[in-house]
Amino acid sequence: MRQVTVVHLSDLHLPLADKVAWSQMLNKRMLGFVNLRVLRGKHMSEPLALSMLRSAATEPADLFVVSGDLSNLALPGELERASTLLHAAGFAPDKTLVIPGNHDRYVPEAEASRIFERLMAHWLPVGFADRGEYPLVKKAGSILLIGLDTAVARGGIRSAGYLGQPQLDRLAAILRSEEHQGLWPVVALHHPPLPVGTSFLRQYARGLVGFAKLLRLLEPRGATLIHGHLHLQERRRLGKLEVVGVPSISKVGHSLRDAMGYHVYTFTQAGLKNVIAVRTVEQAQGPSVVRHELAAVDIG
Ligand SMILES: [Fe+2]
Ligand SMILES: [Fe+2]
Repeated sequence: MRQVTVVHLSDLHLPLADKVAWSQMLNKRMLGFVNLRVLRGKHMSEPLALSMLRSAATEPADLFVVSGDLSNLALPGELERASTLLHAAGFAPDKTLVIPGNHDRYVPEAEASRIFERLMAHWLPVGFADRGEYPLVKKAGSILLIGLDTAVARGGIRSAGYLGQPQLDRLAAILRSEEHQGLWPVVALHHPPLPVGTSFLRQYARGLVGFAKLLRLLEPRGATLIHGHLHLQERRRLGKLEVVGVPSISKVGHSLRDAMGYHVYTFTQAGLKNVIAVRTVEQAQGPSVVRHELAAVDIG
């Protein structure tokens, strides 16, 4: 059977294009707005990010994944613009799986109103904003691409994700289904499905609640899990599971580990064959695009 290629990018976080009404800021968004203007905004480059987006969209891939944090504050203008930019870069909705990140559910009203699903409707199944439930599924050759939703609104600076039993049960049913037998599961989610550090506080602040149940569910069959959120590259192997993290596609960085970019995965029926990391690295003479193969680190 032929090989399957998947392109993965994440964490667009592009700077705000429009003025923001103060009435939209009387909540956690105020904290995020200050962070964006003072800290995060200084580390983003929109022209370079748009160039990387176009580069990712023109890779000869079977499927494309955008794993969340398309916005900063879950404002309507941000999500509309992200959708427009994905179209303009050349991504095709029928070949592109888009899932939310914590910034796309930044405040409770964004989560309750399903603003992500409403404004990213072109990238989701018809009617999904009204009654759709994750996981999302796409197939290509020997792989079964599954998109989970781990994004929830949190208070303060907490950005942790959540994966509840109902969604895990739906995932288990997808994996059991007759039509999906013999396919290799590639599970996309925004938050990393592994501990994000050794401290309880860091895990509480940024980790994924429910990740251990997800790994137990996938372990017998084996799977590749791909995520964003940390804005760092990682490739870790845990028995029959592999977890690959991609950096942000808009964050300026000076090392291969954190510089803006995307991943190109090649799969065979037996699973993940290789990961090519494409990065724009900021160097003394200016930004340069680098492609390198990402090696796996065994962690169990
Ligand atoms: Fe992010
Ligand atoms: Fe995130």
